Amino acid sequence: MKSRLHAHIGTFRQLEILLAVYEHKSIKEASEALYLSQPTISMQLKKLAESINLPLYHQIGRKLQFTEAGQAMVETAREILQSCEQLDMELSSLRGLKSGTLKLAVVTTAKYFIPYLLGPFCEKFPGIDIKLTVGNRQQIIERLENGDDDFYVFSHLPTTLTLETIEFISNQLVAIAPLGHPLAEKSSISLQEFCQYDFLAREQGSGTRYAIEKFFASKELSPKTKMTIESNEAIIHSTIAGLGISILSAHTIAFGGKYDLVKLPVQDLKIDSSWSLAWRPESKQSMIAREFAQYVQSEGKAGLSKKYSFM
Ligand code: PGA
Repeated sequence: MKSRLHAHIGTFRQLEILLAVYEHKSIKEASEALYLSQPTISMQLKKLAESINLPLYHQIGRKLQFTEAGQAMVETAREILQSCEQLDMELSSLRGLKSGTLKLAVVTTAKYFIPYLLGPFCEKFPGIDIKLTVGNRQQIIERLENGDDDFYVFSHLPTTLTLETIEFISNQLVAIAPLGHPLAEKSSISLQEFCQYDFLAREQGSGTRYAIEKFFASKELSPKTKMTIESNEAIIHSTIAGLGISILSAHTIAFGGKYDLVKLPVQDLKIDSSWSLAWRPESKQSMIAREFAQYVQSEGKAGLSKKYSFM
């Protein structure tokens, strides 16, 4: 007998809501991500549960526990929505490059230069939309594993996945201190001396933190972490406020005026890498995505290198 389930499920929007609640593990967070009220979310999920005549989840304390039916629904919702995206891509290709969406997920530190990469591309293709997601390295790896976006930008590529990549600009990490710090006047600082002062670190999952830990471990040293802070901007302000010294990508301090910060000449501090655009070889790319990869490889890369030639 042919299934009529599709006729009972209300709308694709309900599936999108279900996925958001499942992924955020919270109705509140899903409501913020989708710009819907919490009662709307609960109502839509109730309707969805009624359409299959089974509960999708149970609320245990503050936690949502998805039922077996809920999990199965999530899997199917993912497939249906991915098929819609696929259809959207094909339709965009049929329309030429006049419309469509380019989805990029970039690590936090990349947000400083990505707009300069996207600007000229958007000028060239004014009809396209960009969906830019920013997260720390661990969060972007998860998106890559789920195949959520067209491209991902990392400076430390995940080692467990096979990827296609385009390297487009270098990333240099620099040590910073506030004006007036005992290290700020020095003309040369050893790594050992650097490790004696309070250090402000990025959170677990950050690529910056990953690179710093790997580097210092290779020297059998470790910075004296005083605070863990989930944002480059907050680290910059905490450094200026005298809470400690830090190491960040040079991109975070490249523009934006004088910060009352000093770059420290730490001998042998060499944590250099390159920013790469990455994607899974098996992912099916839209025409816009293919065009973007070509653009990054040529004009995009050249434009950024020119802009950051002073670094
Ligand atoms: P982060 O990543 O913003 O997560 O620290 C930066 C990087 O990968 O270099």
